[in-house]
Amino acid sequence: MASEDRDPTSSDEQRSPLRQSQSKSKNAGVTRRSFLGRIGAAGIVVTASPLLASAAQVETPVAPPSVPGAVPVTLKINGQEHHLKLEPRVTLLDALRNNLQMFGTKKGCDHGQCGACTVHVNGRRVNSCLTFAIMHQGDAITTTEGLAHDGQLHPVQAAFVEHDGFQCGYCTSGQIMSAVALLNEPCGDDDNSVRECMSGNICRCGAYPNIVAAVQQARKRTKFAPAGERNAEFRLSQD
Ligand code: FES
Ligand code: FES
Repeated sequence: MASEDRDPTSSDEQRSPLRQSQSKSKNAGVTRRSFLGRIGAAGIVVTASPLLASAAQVETPVAPPSVPGAVPVTLKINGQEHHLKLEPRVTLLDALRNNLQMFGTKKGCDHGQCGACTVHVNGRRVNSCLTFAIMHQGDAITTTEGLAHDGQLHPVQAAFVEHDGFQCGYCTSGQIMSAVALLNEPCGDDDNSVRECMSGNICRCGAYPNIVAAVQQARKRTKFAPAGERNAEFRLSQD
Protein backbone atom coordinates (compact mmCIF):
# COMPACT_ATOMS: atom_id res chain seq x y z
CA MET A 1 0.00 0.00 0.00
CA ALA A 2 1.40 3.41 -0.93
CA SER A 3 2.03 5.73 1.98
CA GLU A 4 -0.30 8.38 0.53
CA ASP A 5 -3.22 5.93 0.73
CA ARG A 6 -2.45 4.78 4.29
CA ASP A 7 -5.38 5.58 6.65
CA PRO A 8 -4.54 6.40 10.28
CA THR A 9 -8.05 5.52 11.56
CA SER A 10 -8.57 2.09 12.99
CA SER A 11 -11.68 0.93 11.06
CA ASP A 12 -14.01 1.67 8.08
CA GLU A 13 -16.79 2.72 10.53
CA GLN A 14 -14.53 5.46 11.95
CA ARG A 15 -13.55 6.74 8.50
CA SER A 16 -15.29 9.79 6.96
CA PRO A 17 -17.79 9.17 4.08
CA LEU A 18 -15.20 10.66 1.72
CA ARG A 19 -12.57 8.20 2.93
CA GLN A 20 -15.01 5.34 2.52
CA SER A 21 -15.80 6.50 -1.02
CA GLN A 22 -12.09 6.75 -1.85
CA SER A 23 -11.56 3.28 -0.49
CA LYS A 24 -14.38 1.87 -2.64
CA SER A 25 -13.03 3.68 -5.73
CA LYS A 26 -9.59 2.24 -5.09
CA ASN A 27 -11.10 -1.18 -4.84
CA ALA A 28 -12.76 -0.63 -8.21
CA GLY A 29 -9.32 0.01 -9.74
CA VAL A 30 -9.42 3.82 -9.54
CA THR A 31 -6.63 5.53 -7.61
CA ARG A 32 -6.96 9.02 -6.20
CA ARG A 33 -4.36 10.25 -8.68
CA SER A 34 -6.19 8.80 -11.70
CA PHE A 35 -9.52 10.08 -10.31
CA LEU A 36 -8.16 13.64 -9.99
CA GLY A 37 -6.62 13.34 -13.44
CA ARG A 38 -10.01 12.49 -14.93
CA ILE A 39 -11.67 15.38 -13.07
CA GLY A 40 -9.03 17.76 -14.40
CA ALA A 41 -9.44 16.53 -17.97
CA ALA A 42 -13.21 16.88 -17.71
CA GLY A 43 -12.79 20.40 -16.36
CA ILE A 44 -10.61 21.40 -19.30
CA VAL A 45 -13.17 20.02 -21.74
CA VAL A 46 -16.02 21.87 -20.01
CA THR A 47 -14.03 25.11 -19.87
CA ALA A 48 -12.75 24.90 -23.42
CA SER A 49 -16.03 23.92 -25.05
CA PRO A 50 -17.49 27.45 -25.24
CA LEU A 51 -14.16 28.77 -26.53
CA LEU A 52 -13.99 26.08 -29.17
CA ALA A 53 -17.60 26.76 -30.07
CA SER A 54 -17.01 30.53 -30.35
CA ALA A 55 -13.91 29.90 -32.47
CA ALA A 56 -16.02 27.78 -34.77
CA GLN A 57 -18.58 30.61 -34.95
CA VAL A 58 -15.92 33.16 -35.87
CA GLU A 59 -14.70 31.00 -38.71
CA THR A 60 -18.19 30.36 -40.04
CA PRO A 61 -19.28 33.12 -42.46
CA VAL A 62 -22.44 34.68 -41.14
CA ALA A 63 -24.97 36.18 -43.53
CA PRO A 64 -25.87 39.80 -42.66
CA PRO A 65 -29.12 39.89 -40.70
CA SER A 66 -32.07 40.90 -42.79
CA VAL A 67 -33.81 43.92 -41.33
CA PRO A 68 -37.55 43.33 -40.97
CA GLY A 69 -39.53 45.85 -42.98
CA ALA A 70 -36.52 47.13 -44.95
CA VAL A 71 -37.39 48.62 -48.34
CA PRO A 72 -35.24 49.73 -51.27
CA VAL A 73 -34.15 53.36 -50.97
CA THR A 74 -32.03 55.33 -53.44
CA LEU A 75 -30.18 58.38 -52.14
CA LYS A 76 -28.20 60.82 -54.24
CA ILE A 77 -25.36 62.05 -52.08
CA ASN A 78 -22.64 64.38 -53.31
CA GLY A 79 -23.71 63.62 -56.87
CA GLN A 80 -23.51 59.85 -56.49
CA GLU A 81 -26.45 57.47 -56.25
CA HIS A 82 -26.51 54.91 -53.44
CA HIS A 83 -28.93 51.98 -53.45
CA LEU A 84 -29.79 50.84 -49.94
CA LYS A 85 -32.31 48.70 -48.10
CA LEU A 86 -33.51 50.65 -45.12
CA GLU A 87 -36.18 50.29 -42.52
CA PRO A 88 -38.46 53.33 -43.16
CA ARG A 89 -37.75 54.85 -39.75
CA VAL A 90 -33.99 55.12 -40.33
CA THR A 91 -32.96 58.77 -40.14
CA LEU A 92 -30.86 60.37 -42.84
CA LEU A 93 -28.09 60.74 -40.26
CA ASP A 94 -28.06 57.03 -39.41
CA ALA A 95 -28.21 56.06 -43.08
CA LEU A 96 -25.14 58.21 -43.74
CA ARG A 97 -23.14 56.93 -40.81
CA ASN A 98 -24.33 53.36 -40.33
CA ASN A 99 -25.18 52.27 -43.85
CA LEU A 100 -22.81 54.34 -45.97
CA GLN A 101 -19.93 54.75 -43.51
CA MET A 102 -19.86 58.48 -44.19
CA PHE A 103 -18.69 59.62 -40.78
CA GLY A 104 -18.09 63.28 -41.61
CA THR A 105 -21.63 64.08 -40.51
CA LYS A 106 -21.62 63.91 -36.71
CA LYS A 107 -24.21 62.71 -34.25
CA GLY A 108 -24.32 65.01 -31.24
CA CYS A 109 -27.68 65.20 -29.50
CA ASP A 110 -29.73 63.15 -32.02
CA HIS A 111 -32.61 65.45 -31.06
CA GLY A 112 -32.29 68.44 -33.37
CA GLN A 113 -30.64 70.66 -30.79
CA CYS A 114 -26.92 70.87 -31.59
CA GLY A 115 -26.55 71.10 -35.38
CA ALA A 116 -23.65 68.63 -35.53
CA CYS A 117 -25.58 66.56 -38.08
CA THR A 118 -26.24 69.43 -40.54
CA VAL A 119 -26.31 68.48 -44.23
CA HIS A 120 -27.82 70.15 -47.28
CA VAL A 121 -30.92 68.90 -49.03
CA ASN A 122 -31.46 70.66 -52.35
CA GLY A 123 -29.13 73.43 -51.17
CA ARG A 124 -30.89 74.05 -47.85
CA ARG A 125 -29.47 73.06 -44.48
CA VAL A 126 -31.32 70.44 -42.48
CA ASN A 127 -30.64 68.50 -39.30
CA SER A 128 -30.21 65.00 -40.66
CA CYS A 129 -31.14 63.47 -37.29
CA LEU A 130 -34.66 64.87 -37.65
CA THR A 131 -35.58 63.54 -41.06
CA PHE A 132 -36.06 60.05 -42.45
CA ALA A 133 -33.77 58.89 -45.24
CA ILE A 134 -36.67 57.44 -47.21
CA MET A 135 -38.15 60.95 -47.55
CA HIS A 136 -35.20 62.12 -49.62
CA GLN A 137 -35.25 59.87 -52.63
CA GLY A 138 -34.66 62.11 -55.63
CA ASP A 139 -33.23 64.95 -53.52
CA ALA A 140 -29.71 66.30 -53.94
CA ILE A 141 -28.01 65.65 -50.61
CA THR A 142 -24.67 67.25 -49.84
CA THR A 143 -22.49 66.29 -46.91
CA THR A 144 -19.19 67.67 -45.71
CA GLU A 145 -17.41 65.03 -47.81
CA GLY A 146 -18.81 66.71 -50.92
CA LEU A 147 -17.57 70.27 -50.30
CA ALA A 148 -13.99 70.12 -51.52
CA HIS A 149 -13.43 69.82 -55.25
CA ASP A 150 -10.34 68.81 -57.21
CA GLY A 151 -8.26 68.71 -54.05
CA GLN A 152 -9.24 72.32 -53.19
CA LEU A 153 -10.90 73.10 -49.89
CA HIS A 154 -14.18 74.92 -50.08
CA PRO A 155 -13.57 78.62 -49.16
CA VAL A 156 -15.59 78.16 -45.96
CA GLN A 157 -13.41 75.20 -45.00
CA ALA A 158 -10.29 77.21 -45.80
CA ALA A 159 -11.58 80.12 -43.72
CA PHE A 160 -12.21 77.83 -40.73
CA VAL A 161 -8.64 76.59 -40.97
CA GLU A 162 -7.29 80.11 -41.35
CA HIS A 163 -9.20 81.44 -38.34
CA ASP A 164 -8.90 78.36 -36.11
CA GLY A 165 -12.68 78.02 -36.12
CA PHE A 166 -12.56 74.84 -34.05
CA GLN A 167 -10.93 73.15 -31.10
CA CYS A 168 -12.01 69.52 -30.68
CA GLY A 169 -13.63 69.63 -34.14
CA TYR A 170 -16.72 67.63 -33.29
CA CYS A 171 -19.13 70.41 -34.24
CA THR A 172 -17.05 71.62 -37.17
CA SER A 173 -18.60 69.72 -40.08
CA GLY A 174 -22.05 70.91 -38.99
CA GLN A 175 -20.80 74.48 -38.53
CA ILE A 176 -19.25 74.49 -41.99
CA MET A 177 -22.34 73.01 -43.65
CA SER A 178 -24.46 75.70 -41.99
CA ALA A 179 -22.02 78.43 -42.99
CA VAL A 180 -22.00 77.29 -46.62
CA ALA A 181 -25.80 77.35 -46.71
CA LEU A 182 -25.80 80.73 -44.99
CA LEU A 183 -23.92 82.22 -47.96
CA ASN A 184 -27.12 81.95 -49.95
CA GLU A 185 -29.51 83.05 -47.21
CA PRO A 186 -30.82 86.52 -46.34
CA CYS A 187 -28.55 87.14 -43.37
CA GLY A 188 -27.44 90.60 -42.23
CA ASP A 189 -23.86 91.71 -42.78
CA ASP A 190 -22.84 92.30 -39.15
CA ASP A 191 -21.41 89.77 -36.71
CA ASN A 192 -24.57 89.64 -34.60
CA SER A 193 -26.55 88.61 -37.67
CA VAL A 194 -24.06 85.82 -38.32
CA ARG A 195 -24.37 84.67 -34.71
CA GLU A 196 -28.13 84.59 -35.09
CA CYS A 197 -27.98 82.73 -38.40
CA MET A 198 -25.54 80.20 -36.93
CA SER A 199 -27.40 79.84 -33.63
CA GLY A 200 -28.58 76.33 -34.44
CA ASN A 201 -25.02 75.06 -34.31
CA ILE A 202 -23.65 74.58 -30.82
CA CYS A 203 -19.91 74.55 -30.11
CA ARG A 204 -19.17 73.10 -26.71
CA CYS A 205 -15.57 74.27 -26.98
CA GLY A 206 -16.77 77.86 -27.30
CA ALA A 207 -14.92 78.62 -30.53
CA TYR A 208 -17.65 81.09 -31.52
CA PRO A 209 -15.49 84.23 -32.07
CA ASN A 210 -13.28 82.34 -34.53
CA ILE A 211 -16.27 80.69 -36.20
CA VAL A 212 -17.90 84.09 -36.78
CA ALA A 213 -14.62 85.46 -38.15
CA ALA A 214 -14.33 82.49 -40.52
CA VAL A 215 -17.90 82.88 -41.74
CA GLN A 216 -17.43 86.60 -42.33
CA GLN A 217 -14.28 86.02 -44.33
CA ALA A 218 -15.99 83.40 -46.48
CA ARG A 219 -18.90 85.77 -47.06
CA LYS A 220 -16.55 88.53 -48.21
CA ARG A 221 -14.89 86.14 -50.61
CA THR A 222 -18.16 85.11 -52.16
CA LYS A 223 -20.27 88.26 -52.06
CA PHE A 224 -19.36 89.26 -55.61
CA ALA A 225 -20.72 86.07 -57.07
CA PRO A 226 -23.80 86.61 -59.26
CA ALA A 227 -27.14 86.74 -57.41
CA GLY A 228 -28.52 83.27 -56.83
CA GLU A 229 -25.05 81.78 -57.05
CA ARG A 230 -23.65 82.96 -53.74
CA ASN A 231 -23.91 79.47 -52.42
CA ALA A 232 -20.36 78.28 -52.78
CA GLU A 233 -21.57 74.87 -53.89
CA PHE A 234 -22.46 76.42 -57.26
CA ARG A 235 -19.81 79.03 -57.92
CA LEU A 236 -17.46 81.15 -55.90
CA SER A 237 -15.37 84.19 -56.53
CA GLN A 238 -12.01 84.17 -54.84
CA ASP A 239 -10.19 87.18 -53.37
FE1 FES B 1 -28.81 66.36 -35.04
FE2 FES B 1 -27.77 67.28 -32.74
S1 FES B 1 -27.34 65.41 -33.78
S2 FES B 1 -29.12 68.30 -34.12
FE1 FES C 1 -15.35 71.37 -30.07
FE2 FES C 1 -16.97 72.94 -31.46
S1 FES C 1 -14.85 72.68 -31.71
S2 FES C 1 -17.50 71.44 -30.02
